[in-house]
Amino acid sequence: MAFATRQFVRAASSDAATAAAKKLLIKHVTIVGGGLMGAGIAQIAAASGHTVVLVDQSDEILKKSTKGIEESLKRVTKKKFADKPEAGAEFIKNTLKNLTTSTDAASVVHSTDLVIEAIVENLEVKNKLFKTLDKFAPEHTIFASNTSSLQITEMANATTRQDRFGGLHFFNPVPMMKLVEVIKTPMTSQKTFESLMDFSKAVGKSPVSCKDTPGFIVNRLLVPYMMEAVRLFERGDASKEDIDVAMKLGAGYPMGPFELLDYVGLDTSKYIIDGWHSLEPNNPLFAPSPLLNKLVEEKKLGKKTGEGFYKYK
Ligand code: NAI
Repeated sequence: MAFATRQFVRAASSDAATAAAKKLLIKHVTIVGGGLMGAGIAQIAAASGHTVVLVDQSDEILKKSTKGIEESLKRVTKKKFADKPEAGAEFIKNTLKNLTTSTDAASVVHSTDLVIEAIVENLEVKNKLFKTLDKFAPEHTIFASNTSSLQITEMANATTRQDRFGGLHFFNPVPMMKLVEVIKTPMTSQKTFESLMDFSKAVGKSPVSCKDTPGFIVNRLLVPYMMEAVRLFERGDASKEDIDVAMKLGAGYPMGPFELLDYVGLDTSKYIIDGWHSLEPNNPLFAPSPLLNKLVEEKKLGKKTGEGFYKYK
């Protein structure tokens, strides 16, 4: 019995060693899209020692992204190296040394291990990008999308590397939020999945895994919850202020659903729910809301426009 156990342990550890040897150690990362999410991902990847190229459509946008990263690094450093300002300055210098920018993704992916896409939430535009990069990236390169609501499988199908394709769903603000959802499609290989899990840990996050299902874990629970809050308010059952207070004090949530909707952006929320509704029209959790639609039509999109469910001016 002891012998059998020893044999088993030896076999299992050698299997684990082979699997680990097969995993791709991600060192060079190309991030396409230097907006809110892409800049944040570039920051944490560079800060954790990866070589990063951040890509966007113009130098002007990239200048803004880099400035945002520098400011965010200063904030992080102030906290992290509160009593060691020299070490803080060194950390910023080294992070920025790992980061370069480009306006031409196709010309920079030749030596990259991982491409993370964080461009506009539009399947056609994303597919076009992946299709192009598929021609220029080396065989081993893994592609990942940061999409919140689109199907990873459809993007993978735009390429010839379906086994080296997955989702890496970061949360806003990226440097602060600890979670990453690592999404595995039916075609994602175990090696790709494990490489993405390792990369998420290497950038300091706590990864969870989920299949390629609408909203993954967090948004699948959060978006129907926010829509249910809107419906409660629409029926006149409670005021939005009381619903927010109730969920903060009664459920311990840091924000109420209406505060959260305004923070996320009502247009973004509408886009997500409309997309899911078209996939599953009979699912009452995904039913559109006339009130949300009206506010979006009036360009009351939340904090970013100064008014959503609440006024911010
Ligand atoms: P954003 O609008 O701040 O940034 C998108 C950037 O992509 C812009 O700078 C734009 O110039 C650039 N871009 C657009 N098309 C491009 C192309 N073909 N090539 C290169 N650059 C291009 O958007 P954000 O909020 O950063 O979202 C990006 C992605 O991340 C979306 O898929 C979104 O669903 C997802 N996401 C967003 C979250 C959020 O809270 N904003 C949270 C998690 C995921």
